[in-house]
Amino acid sequence: MKILETTAAVAQWRLNTSGVIGLVPTMGNLHAGHMALVNAACQRCDRVIVSIFVNPMQFGPNEDLATYPRTFDADCAALRHAGVEAVFAPSVSEMYPQNGASLTTVHVDDITGMLCGNRRPGHFDGVATVVAKLFNIVRPNRAFFGEKDFQQLAVVRRMSADLCTGVEIAGVATVRDADGLALSSRNQYLTADERRRALALPGAIGDCVTALRRGDRDFRSLEARAWSRMSDAGFDPDYVEIRQPDLAPATAASSAFRVLAAGHLGQTRLIDNMGMTV
Ligand code: PAF
Repeated sequence: MKILETTAAVAQWRLNTSGVIGLVPTMGNLHAGHMALVNAACQRCDRVIVSIFVNPMQFGPNEDLATYPRTFDADCAALRHAGVEAVFAPSVSEMYPQNGASLTTVHVDDITGMLCGNRRPGHFDGVATVVAKLFNIVRPNRAFFGEKDFQQLAVVRRMSADLCTGVEIAGVATVRDADGLALSSRNQYLTADERRRALALPGAIGDCVTALRRGDRDFRSLEARAWSRMSDAGFDPDYVEIRQPDLAPATAASSAFRVLAAGHLGQTRLIDNMGMTV
Protein backbone atom coordinates (compact mmCIF):
# COMPACT_ATOMS: atom_id res chain seq x y z
CA MET A 1 0.00 0.00 0.00
CA LYS A 2 1.38 3.37 -1.01
CA ILE A 3 1.42 6.27 1.42
CA LEU A 4 1.11 9.49 -0.57
CA GLU A 5 1.69 12.77 1.22
CA THR A 6 1.54 15.33 -1.59
CA THR A 7 -0.87 16.25 -4.35
CA ALA A 8 2.02 15.70 -6.80
CA ALA A 9 2.46 12.12 -5.54
CA VAL A 10 -1.27 11.48 -5.98
CA ALA A 11 -1.13 12.91 -9.52
CA GLN A 12 1.78 10.57 -10.31
CA TRP A 13 -0.07 7.57 -8.83
CA ARG A 14 -3.18 8.53 -10.78
CA LEU A 15 -1.21 8.66 -14.08
CA ASN A 16 -0.37 4.98 -13.65
CA THR A 17 -3.78 3.93 -12.35
CA SER A 18 -6.63 2.77 -14.54
CA GLY A 19 -10.06 1.25 -13.94
CA VAL A 20 -12.74 2.51 -11.59
CA ILE A 21 -11.11 4.49 -8.78
CA GLY A 22 -12.87 4.63 -5.42
CA LEU A 23 -12.12 7.33 -2.82
CA VAL A 24 -12.99 7.04 0.87
CA PRO A 25 -12.42 10.43 2.53
CA THR A 26 -11.77 10.10 6.29
CA MET A 27 -10.25 11.98 9.18
CA GLY A 28 -8.55 8.77 10.36
CA ASN A 29 -9.04 7.01 13.71
CA LEU A 30 -10.72 4.31 11.68
CA HIS A 31 -13.39 2.09 13.23
CA ALA A 32 -15.77 -0.53 11.83
CA GLY A 33 -17.97 2.24 10.38
CA HIS A 34 -15.09 3.51 8.24
CA MET A 35 -14.12 -0.04 7.33
CA ALA A 36 -17.67 -0.62 6.01
CA LEU A 37 -17.03 2.32 3.63
CA VAL A 38 -13.65 0.88 2.68
CA ASN A 39 -15.10 -2.60 2.09
CA ALA A 40 -17.94 -1.19 -0.03
CA ALA A 41 -15.34 0.74 -2.05
CA CYS A 42 -13.17 -2.37 -2.50
CA GLN A 43 -16.19 -4.33 -3.73
CA ARG A 44 -17.43 -1.66 -6.11
CA CYS A 45 -14.16 -0.25 -7.49
CA ASP A 46 -11.00 -1.58 -9.13
CA ARG A 47 -8.66 0.47 -6.96
CA VAL A 48 -9.30 2.23 -3.68
CA ILE A 49 -7.57 5.24 -2.18
CA VAL A 50 -8.39 6.41 1.35
CA SER A 51 -7.62 9.95 2.46
CA ILE A 52 -6.71 10.64 6.07
CA PHE A 53 -6.85 14.33 6.86
CA VAL A 54 -8.17 16.08 9.97
CA ASN A 55 -9.56 19.12 8.19
CA PRO A 56 -9.15 22.29 10.32
CA MET A 57 -11.64 24.19 8.14
CA GLN A 58 -14.60 22.11 9.33
CA PHE A 59 -13.94 22.58 13.07
CA GLY A 60 -15.37 25.53 15.00
CA PRO A 61 -13.18 27.58 17.40
CA ASN A 62 -14.42 25.68 20.48
CA GLU A 63 -14.46 22.24 18.92
CA ASP A 64 -12.11 19.26 19.26
CA LEU A 65 -9.58 19.88 16.45
CA ALA A 66 -6.57 19.70 18.80
CA THR A 67 -7.74 16.58 20.63
CA TYR A 68 -9.29 14.74 17.68
CA PRO A 69 -7.86 11.19 17.97
CA ARG A 70 -5.01 10.49 15.55
CA THR A 71 -4.02 6.82 15.06
CA PHE A 72 -2.19 6.82 11.73
CA ASP A 73 -0.18 3.59 12.09
CA ALA A 74 -3.15 1.49 13.23
CA ASP A 75 -5.28 3.06 10.46
CA CYS A 76 -2.72 2.08 7.81
CA ALA A 77 -2.51 -1.48 9.14
CA ALA A 78 -6.29 -1.88 8.87
CA LEU A 79 -6.36 -0.37 5.37
CA ARG A 80 -3.50 -2.57 4.16
CA HIS A 81 -5.37 -5.62 5.47
CA ALA A 82 -8.56 -4.51 3.67
CA GLY A 83 -6.76 -4.34 0.30
CA VAL A 84 -6.57 -0.59 -0.12
CA GLU A 85 -4.08 0.48 -2.75
CA ALA A 86 -3.09 3.91 -1.51
CA VAL A 87 -3.50 6.28 1.42
CA PHE A 88 -3.43 10.04 0.87
CA ALA A 89 -2.25 11.66 4.09
CA PRO A 90 -1.47 15.31 3.36
CA SER A 91 -0.31 17.97 5.80
CA VAL A 92 -2.46 21.05 6.43
CA SER A 93 -0.11 23.16 4.29
CA GLU A 94 -0.41 20.65 1.44
CA MET A 95 -4.21 20.98 1.47
CA TYR A 96 -4.25 24.72 2.19
CA PRO A 97 -1.06 25.86 0.43
CA GLN A 98 -1.76 29.60 0.55
CA ASN A 99 -0.44 30.04 4.10
CA GLY A 100 -3.03 27.61 5.43
CA ALA A 101 -5.88 29.82 4.28
CA SER A 102 -8.36 29.54 1.46
CA LEU A 103 -9.94 32.52 -0.27
CA THR A 104 -12.14 30.09 -2.12
CA THR A 105 -14.91 28.36 -0.19
CA VAL A 106 -17.43 25.88 -1.49
CA HIS A 107 -20.77 26.79 0.06
CA VAL A 108 -23.83 24.63 -0.51
CA ASP A 109 -26.90 26.73 0.15
CA ASP A 110 -30.23 25.79 1.70
CA ILE A 111 -29.58 22.26 3.03
CA THR A 112 -26.73 23.60 5.20
CA GLY A 113 -29.07 26.09 6.94
CA MET A 114 -30.70 23.50 9.18
CA LEU A 115 -29.88 20.70 11.65
CA CYS A 116 -26.10 20.53 12.27
CA GLY A 117 -25.57 23.51 9.95
CA ASN A 118 -27.37 25.78 12.42
CA ARG A 119 -25.35 24.49 15.36
CA ARG A 120 -21.94 24.40 13.69
CA PRO A 121 -21.60 27.60 11.61
CA GLY A 122 -19.16 27.12 8.73
CA HIS A 123 -18.83 23.38 9.32
CA PHE A 124 -20.37 22.31 6.03
CA ASP A 125 -18.40 24.95 4.09
CA GLY A 126 -15.30 23.25 5.50
CA VAL A 127 -16.57 19.82 4.52
CA ALA A 128 -17.72 20.82 1.02
CA THR A 129 -14.46 22.69 0.36
CA VAL A 130 -12.16 19.88 1.47
CA VAL A 131 -14.18 17.21 -0.34
CA ALA A 132 -14.14 19.30 -3.55
CA LYS A 133 -10.35 19.64 -3.16
CA LEU A 134 -10.00 15.87 -2.62
CA PHE A 135 -12.10 15.21 -5.74
CA ASN A 136 -9.83 17.55 -7.74
CA ILE A 137 -6.67 15.96 -6.41
CA VAL A 138 -7.69 12.29 -6.65
CA ARG A 139 -10.20 12.48 -9.55
CA PRO A 140 -12.08 9.39 -8.34
CA ASN A 141 -14.99 7.78 -10.16
CA ARG A 142 -16.85 7.00 -6.93
CA ALA A 143 -16.62 8.34 -3.40
CA PHE A 144 -18.04 6.70 -0.28
CA PHE A 145 -19.63 8.46 2.71
CA GLY A 146 -21.46 7.12 5.77
CA GLU A 147 -25.18 7.66 6.33
CA LYS A 148 -24.35 8.35 9.99
CA ASP A 149 -23.49 11.90 8.83
CA PHE A 150 -26.71 12.10 6.84
CA GLN A 151 -26.68 15.86 6.29
CA GLN A 152 -23.03 15.72 5.23
CA LEU A 153 -23.94 13.05 2.67
CA ALA A 154 -26.71 15.31 1.29
CA VAL A 155 -24.32 18.29 1.15
CA VAL A 156 -21.62 16.30 -0.64
CA ARG A 157 -24.13 14.86 -3.13
CA ARG A 158 -25.40 18.33 -3.95
CA MET A 159 -21.91 19.85 -4.19
CA SER A 160 -20.80 17.05 -6.51
CA ALA A 161 -23.86 17.46 -8.75
CA ASP A 162 -23.73 21.28 -8.78
CA LEU A 163 -20.00 21.36 -9.61
CA CYS A 164 -20.33 18.63 -12.28
CA THR A 165 -17.51 16.65 -10.70
CA GLY A 166 -18.62 13.44 -12.40
CA VAL A 167 -17.95 11.64 -9.11
CA GLU A 168 -20.68 9.18 -8.13
CA ILE A 169 -21.50 9.53 -4.43
CA ALA A 170 -22.25 6.29 -2.59
CA GLY A 171 -23.91 6.32 0.84
CA VAL A 172 -23.17 3.42 3.18
CA ALA A 173 -25.45 2.33 6.05
CA THR A 174 -24.52 3.28 9.62
CA VAL A 175 -22.62 0.65 11.62
CA ARG A 176 -23.76 0.27 15.24
CA ASP A 177 -22.41 -1.35 18.35
CA ALA A 178 -24.38 -4.42 19.48
CA ASP A 179 -26.44 -2.23 21.83
CA GLY A 180 -27.41 0.20 19.03
CA LEU A 181 -25.04 3.16 19.51
CA ALA A 182 -23.78 4.36 16.12
CA LEU A 183 -20.00 4.03 15.82
CA SER A 184 -18.18 7.35 15.99
CA SER A 185 -14.63 8.37 16.79
CA ARG A 186 -16.16 10.70 19.38
CA ASN A 187 -17.68 7.78 21.36
CA GLN A 188 -14.27 7.30 22.97
CA TYR A 189 -14.64 10.67 24.73
CA LEU A 190 -17.60 9.24 26.74
CA THR A 191 -17.17 8.09 30.34
CA ALA A 192 -18.60 4.62 31.15
CA ASP A 193 -21.69 6.28 32.62
CA GLU A 194 -22.14 8.55 29.58
CA ARG A 195 -21.67 5.58 27.26
CA ARG A 196 -24.67 3.90 28.95
CA ARG A 197 -26.76 7.07 28.78
CA ALA A 198 -25.79 7.66 25.13
CA LEU A 199 -28.19 4.85 24.18
CA ALA A 200 -31.02 7.36 24.68
CA LEU A 201 -30.01 8.89 21.31
CA PRO A 202 -30.70 5.83 19.11
CA GLY A 203 -33.52 4.94 21.53
CA ALA A 204 -35.29 8.28 21.04
CA ILE A 205 -34.84 8.15 17.26
CA GLY A 206 -36.01 4.52 17.20
CA ASP A 207 -39.16 5.48 19.17
CA CYS A 208 -39.99 8.04 16.45
CA VAL A 209 -39.45 5.47 13.71
CA THR A 210 -41.69 2.97 15.51
CA ALA A 211 -44.44 5.58 15.90
CA LEU A 212 -44.12 6.60 12.22
CA ARG A 213 -44.44 2.92 11.26
CA ARG A 214 -47.64 2.74 13.32
CA GLY A 215 -48.99 5.66 11.26
CA ASP A 216 -48.48 8.46 13.79
CA ARG A 217 -47.98 11.70 11.85
CA ASP A 218 -48.00 14.16 14.75
CA PHE A 219 -44.37 15.07 14.03
CA ARG A 220 -44.06 17.88 16.60
CA SER A 221 -45.19 15.71 19.53
CA LEU A 222 -43.03 12.78 18.39
CA GLU A 223 -40.04 15.15 18.26
CA ALA A 224 -40.93 16.56 21.69
CA ARG A 225 -41.14 13.05 23.18
CA ALA A 226 -37.76 12.12 21.68
CA TRP A 227 -36.30 15.39 23.02
CA SER A 228 -37.56 14.53 26.53
CA ARG A 229 -36.12 11.03 26.39
CA MET A 230 -32.74 12.49 25.48
CA SER A 231 -32.93 15.20 28.18
CA ASP A 232 -33.99 12.65 30.81
CA ALA A 233 -30.84 10.67 30.01
CA GLY A 234 -28.65 13.76 30.52
CA PHE A 235 -28.36 15.03 26.95
CA ASP A 236 -28.48 18.71 26.11
CA PRO A 237 -30.27 18.16 22.77
CA ASP A 238 -29.40 20.31 19.74
CA TYR A 239 -32.30 19.11 17.61
CA VAL A 240 -34.66 16.24 16.94
CA GLU A 241 -36.32 16.53 13.55
CA ILE A 242 -38.46 14.31 11.38
CA ARG A 243 -37.79 15.12 7.75
CA GLN A 244 -37.98 13.55 4.32
CA PRO A 245 -34.89 11.75 3.00
CA ASP A 246 -33.96 14.84 0.93
CA LEU A 247 -34.18 16.86 4.21
CA ALA A 248 -37.34 18.70 3.12
CA PRO A 249 -39.90 19.04 5.94
CA ALA A 250 -41.97 15.89 6.47
CA THR A 251 -45.65 16.05 5.59
CA ALA A 252 -48.49 13.66 6.40
CA ALA A 253 -48.36 12.58 2.73
CA SER A 254 -44.61 11.81 2.75
CA SER A 255 -43.78 8.25 1.74
CA ALA A 256 -40.36 8.17 3.42
CA PHE A 257 -38.94 9.77 6.53
CA ARG A 258 -35.59 10.45 8.13
CA VAL A 259 -35.41 11.10 11.86
CA LEU A 260 -32.29 13.08 12.77
CA ALA A 261 -31.07 14.07 16.23
CA ALA A 262 -28.01 15.54 17.87
CA GLY A 263 -27.01 16.63 21.33
CA HIS A 264 -24.26 17.07 23.87
CA LEU A 265 -23.65 14.48 26.53
CA GLY A 266 -21.14 16.08 28.87
CA GLN A 267 -18.36 17.40 26.65
CA THR A 268 -19.21 15.13 23.72
CA ARG A 269 -21.50 15.97 20.82
CA LEU A 270 -23.22 12.94 19.31
CA ILE A 271 -25.43 12.71 16.21
CA ASP A 272 -27.51 9.91 14.74
CA ASN A 273 -30.36 9.29 12.34
CA MET A 274 -32.63 6.51 11.07
CA GLY A 275 -34.88 6.20 8.07
CA MET A 276 -38.16 4.52 7.31
CA THR A 277 -40.22 4.06 4.18
CA VAL A 278 -44.00 3.69 4.22
O1 PAF B 1 -16.87 12.52 7.68
C1 PAF B 1 -15.68 12.89 7.81
O2 PAF B 1 -14.84 12.19 8.39
C2 PAF B 1 -15.25 14.24 7.24
O3 PAF B 1 -16.25 15.19 7.39
C3 PAF B 1 -14.77 14.16 5.78
C4 PAF B 1 -15.90 13.72 4.84
C5 PAF B 1 -13.62 13.19 5.67
C6 PAF B 1 -14.29 15.54 5.30
O4 PAF B 1 -13.23 16.00 6.07
